[in-house]
Amino acid sequence: MGELKTVLIPDIGDFSDVPVVEVFVQNGNHVNAEDPLIALESDKATIDIPAPFTGKIREIRVKPGDKVSEGSPIAIIEIADSGGNTDTESVLRKPDSTEKNKRSEEATSEKAPQVITHAAQTESNENVIKAEVKQIYPASPPIQPAPADVAATKAHAGPSVRRFARELGVNLDLIIGSGPKHRILKEDVQAFVKAGLSRVCVNGKSAPVETGLNLLPWPQVDFARHGPVEIKSLSRIKQIAGANLHRNWVMIPHVTQFDEADITDLEALRKESNTAEKQNAVKLTLLSFLMKALIASLKKFPEFNASLDKNANGETNLIIKRYYHIGFAVDTVNGLVVPVIRDVDQKGVVAIARELSELSALARENKLKPEQMQGAGFTISSLGGIGGTAFTPIINAPEVAILGVSKANYKPVYRDGEFVPRLVLPLSLSYDHRVIDGAAAARFTSHLAEVLTDMRLALL
Ligand code: COA
Repeated sequence: MGELKTVLIPDIGDFSDVPVVEVFVQNGNHVNAEDPLIALESDKATIDIPAPFTGKIREIRVKPGDKVSEGSPIAIIEIADSGGNTDTESVLRKPDSTEKNKRSEEATSEKAPQVITHAAQTESNENVIKAEVKQIYPASPPIQPAPADVAATKAHAGPSVRRFARELGVNLDLIIGSGPKHRILKEDVQAFVKAGLSRVCVNGKSAPVETGLNLLPWPQVDFARHGPVEIKSLSRIKQIAGANLHRNWVMIPHVTQFDEADITDLEALRKESNTAEKQNAVKLTLLSFLMKALIASLKKFPEFNASLDKNANGETNLIIKRYYHIGFAVDTVNGLVVPVIRDVDQKGVVAIARELSELSALARENKLKPEQMQGAGFTISSLGGIGGTAFTPIINAPEVAILGVSKANYKPVYRDGEFVPRLVLPLSLSYDHRVIDGAAAARFTSHLAEVLTDMRLALL
């Protein structure tokens, strides 16, 4: 075993009882002279205390939150390549004036501890990560901004962490620190970089791939400077729905397939059924027929009634649902809600229409229970009663597809050598391209259009 030496807080000017905000090392770590050991943060400055010599950390004497002054012991380091005896006595002694003197003597033979505020550090094991990053991103670092931007960040981090981040090109604003008061630690920067590296292996080779959205900050505009404004808070539903929509929009690679269904005969049947059904006080809406037709397509193309799932080994599987619970978007004064009709495959159009009407009423009165909004395998968003020709609905995760329906209109359709007026329903199917191919989506909407054109197909 090499010689053990205590590292003490050096002269840090007028500061005393300064809180330790970060400990960079652990027992057993190898440190090079001038690697930072701890960071202190006073009202005025953040100070890194470096190792005075190269060796192995044998004991750490401080933890975040402790207060230290000049002479306080920080750690015990076993000096590298020292053949000398262990001087435990002197090591464990409390620092006093003799110790201070001894320290100044040591300073002549060893490298004296220096206080680094924004000064440079020498090489350390950080180089492993830096080298990895350089190898994978030879030209431009993945997690950008220019050094000036990094330095200008208001992120809560000490100088050594800022420097480390600057060297790696990491924008500290993108990291939420795990230290006290979300202070960003070196490990947070390492974890951020590692997370980026783990996503860039293509066919066993490193590839320069963007790892974050790397967006510009949101524009800060004082709108009142341009004219009168009114501030209105978002409803709770809008806030919750908005967060979900945002995540789904960002995380799912959406593609939207557009199609049209000739529903002339279906509309005639619906109108006729409504006349006969009036005594039951249930209006058969297009949406109830649409749900029935949809089940036929979902049964033919099961991957549309599915969810992606990661198992314990990190493998991604597709969970195909053998139940048919369909969500439908309802427009309420407070925002969008999605009640769910369960086991649609086991219900007739009248029962579906009844549930549609009851659940939409509950949604508009803000009285839906959580279980009435859960378990959907597929969602329909119908804007047909309002208008529009097409739109791109956002998938309701963890589902993999959503059907948007716009307003049916009469169109001239070429048939048997002449144009005839037909009622045409626009369909917009957004799907998760990780699960569904474009060809499958086109087959799905074609099939759905066929069923809507001839609802007898729904019985097969
Ligand atoms: N094309 C033409 N007309 C349509 C239609 C379509 N695709 N869909 C409905 N209509 C007609 C209906 O036939 C009805 O007319 P009628 O009274 O003459 O029969 C009228 O529009 C109103 O229908 P509505 O009461 O809205 O019933 P619905 O079953 O079609 O829709 C809801 C029920 C709950 C889906 C609907 O009221 C709703 O809230 N839609 C908005 C959904 C939404 O906001 N989606 C956006 C998510 S991003």
